[in-house]
Amino acid sequence: MSNTSETIITAPHETDVLDPRTDASHTSTDAAYAAYAAGSSVPAIRPVQIGPITVPTPVVLSPMAGVTNWPFRVLCEEYGPDGLYVAEMITARALVARNPKAFRLCRFAPSEKIRSLQLYGVDPSIVEQAAHIVVDGGMADHVDLNFGCPVPKVTRRGGGSALPWKTDLFRELIERVVRVCGAANIPVTAKIRVGIDHEHETFLEAGHIAQEEGCAAVTLHARTTAEYYGGHSDWSRIGELTAALDIPVFGNGDIWGADDAVEMVRQTGCAGVAIGRGCQGRPWLFADIRNAFAGNPARVDPTLGEVGRVIERHAELLVEFYDGDERMAVHDLRKHVAWYLKGYPVGGSTRRAFMECESLDDVRREIGLLDPSMRMSERVRDKPRGRVRFAKKVHLPYGWLDSRVTTHEQRQTLFGDDPMDASY
Ligand SMILES: Cc1cc2nc3c(=O)[nH]c(=O)nc-3n(C[C@H](O)[C@H](O)[C@H](O)COP(=O)(O)O)c2cc1C
Repeated sequence: MSNTSETIITAPHETDVLDPRTDASHTSTDAAYAAYAAGSSVPAIRPVQIGPITVPTPVVLSPMAGVTNWPFRVLCEEYGPDGLYVAEMITARALVARNPKAFRLCRFAPSEKIRSLQLYGVDPSIVEQAAHIVVDGGMADHVDLNFGCPVPKVTRRGGGSALPWKTDLFRELIERVVRVCGAANIPVTAKIRVGIDHEHETFLEAGHIAQEEGCAAVTLHARTTAEYYGGHSDWSRIGELTAALDIPVFGNGDIWGADDAVEMVRQTGCAGVAIGRGCQGRPWLFADIRNAFAGNPARVDPTLGEVGRVIERHAELLVEFYDGDERMAVHDLRKHVAWYLKGYPVGGSTRRAFMECESLDDVRREIGLLDPSMRMSERVRDKPRGRVRFAKKVHLPYGWLDSRVTTHEQRQTLFGDDPMDASY
């Protein structure tokens, strides 16, 4: 797309070249350990109420596209049985179009206690229709709304983290979904970022609007769109939002270990935490966080043999998810295997062999070849994993930043066909 049809922010970032894995200033985990070692107490951590839903351990599996389908959620919930485990974002338009792949992403396992879906959309009337489908079909117990996605194909349509800039659209979208879900006593929450960049911050205003329009809680990923997944999230913004709102605020960003979770609550006073990349290949992080919130220093430190059993179970659940299609399941498993093996001294040829698996038997064979006694390197445990980059550019609809409200023309253009449909 050319510059005449969209606005592009290209802001240089001082820290662009810093990989947080090697950034000496990234010390939250170390600080948390130091606090533990010094015997400091765990802050008061209580169950969180999200409308009619009580979340006993205030920890949320943050929605991750391509990751948090039911097989992964089931594993996480087995380790931390009383948190909230959110499905990946579902495009409202795809639900409205009755796209079968979108409906597959809305499935839950019978064991899941709270069925939590996240909807994404730009057009309030389409998102409202999607909410009706969810409510009328009895498809979920909780609906989260995505206002945090930074990817260009979303923000250039005014969606995800670009949307709260337009306060009229943001308010209308929440208001319509809360009306539909509220009638069925289904709580609605909003997931937001700090803003588009530091010149265009939206989180405080967005938090207030979400609260006024009846959201039961807000999750703040403490980065801007421009920051994407780079550097370190600014937890002080979580503290600011917590102080500003009456509804619960979940803090999100850079929780790599259970002690980070405790530290975030201690630093910000947030009601709970949301975990994204930190649990990739480590569903047991939810057991660690549950322990840490209870003041229990026990942590899960699986041998590679134990990890192999988790990989096998994950593969089996994925086969169920894909209705018996082993090839699709095993392909989906690949990224998880890379995360599961991270930090274990496993050679490149073993990793490659997993990537070439085409069936459950192939996966089982490779698991059988792992050294079951290996343990994870201390250097990697509770350290950053997954995406860590800044955005090269922020793509927005043309003229998006000129005003805080949408024009009639902008709405006409935005509410046309959404290329996100093609993602299914
Ligand atoms: C692979 C991937 C997919 C994601 N998909 C979604 C999504 O569907 N909806 C959403 O609100 N956030 C999504 N996120 C953002 C995460 O939920 C989370 O806010 C972000 O990773 C920051 O938390 P973390 O530092 O704990 O990873 C995604 C992140 C990653 C890495």
